[in-house]
Amino acid sequence: MRTRYFDNAATSWPKPQAVPRTVRRSLVRGGGNAGRSGHAKALAAARTVLRTRELAAELFHVADPSRLVFTKNATEALNLALYGLLRPADRVVTSSMEHNSVMRPLRDLARRGVALEVVPAAAGGVIEPAAFCAAVTAGTRLAVVTHASNVTGAVTDVAPIGEHCRRLGVALLLDAAQTAGCVPIDVEALRVDFLAFSGHKGLLGPQGTGGLYVRDERALEPLERGGTGSRSDREEQPEFLPDRYESGTLNMPGIAGLGAGVEYLLRRGVQSVQAHERRLLELFLEGLAEQPGITVYGPPGAEARTGVLSLNVAGLSCSEAGSALEDRFGLATRVGLHCAPIAHRSLGTFPDGTVRFSWGVFTCERDAGAAVRALRTLAQERG
Ligand SMILES: Cc1ncc(COP(=O)(O)O)c(C=O)c1O
Repeated sequence: MRTRYFDNAATSWPKPQAVPRTVRRSLVRGGGNAGRSGHAKALAAARTVLRTRELAAELFHVADPSRLVFTKNATEALNLALYGLLRPADRVVTSSMEHNSVMRPLRDLARRGVALEVVPAAAGGVIEPAAFCAAVTAGTRLAVVTHASNVTGAVTDVAPIGEHCRRLGVALLLDAAQTAGCVPIDVEALRVDFLAFSGHKGLLGPQGTGGLYVRDERALEPLERGGTGSRSDREEQPEFLPDRYESGTLNMPGIAGLGAGVEYLLRRGVQSVQAHERRLLELFLEGLAEQPGITVYGPPGAEARTGVLSLNVAGLSCSEAGSALEDRFGLATRVGLHCAPIAHRSLGTFPDGTVRFSWGVFTCERDAGAAVRALRTLAQERG
């Protein structure tokens, strides 16, 4: 039985063919360490890193590519922004739909004296900009919000939040782990100060890649310090970007592959990816609407959502449903709490969790149809 992959919110698969080809080329024919020497291989590696940086900058409308710092994933990018910026007595505002990559650092920082306010989501796990903005007062150091929930796929209306934060001089950190590559992002238009993204999800790169856009580095301390290949005469960390935040040897094969993933997206267009993922969501929603025994979570309709759908089948725990979907129908989903317990509390699905289907650029209508048929069968068997 062929596996139909519905776990793109965890990591995308398959990748465009150019991605593994480029990773392989980097390992077999590349080999140099970017910025570490003047020989041809090192110079070629540096050019590859610069090219990926430029491509990602183009995707997010970042005018200066050096403001995009590579990390190993979105978690590291979020940690860099949170620990780099927040000090005891600072006030930070976030939502009740965040991933643990945000909540765990924030709970730890709260223990160290940072004042944390968590704004509850409205029905369906929707983050209401008005309620969020009401909590972001003058003197707040940072607002952190997910661009889209990894549990429901609901996309946050960031523009009014960005507008409000910029007016008050509050920094805005956007967690774009679930939207980079799936929803158009313009950091200037959205007034984002820090954008954390995964390279291995919607950007279609290899695992071990991600990054952080830094609009203003003056208050942002690095997480790590070390060799950068630049200013080697000094024992202090360089102040300039991206070196200030990129210590140690970079993930060259990963960054090369990420460049190929972003190139694919720029050619195809993020809007076309978004339309494709929305069409599949419509198929799911239409196919399950009339089926008793299936509860779908999140906002109604397919607007302002990514290719993520959380649901439960009456009479089955989510792990029983997930096992049946894989063993009997070849569907790979993710069940449980999705590293977002607070989001599940907001939705009323804690501690049991949900079955999450998440699709991507290479998921087709046949896959969605097979998933809907499998879910109907399970629900009818239990009905
Ligand atoms: C909303 C959200 N934020 C952060 C992360 C962490 O991303 P990464 O796995 O790249 O560290 C995830 C991962 O699923 C996520 O969904």
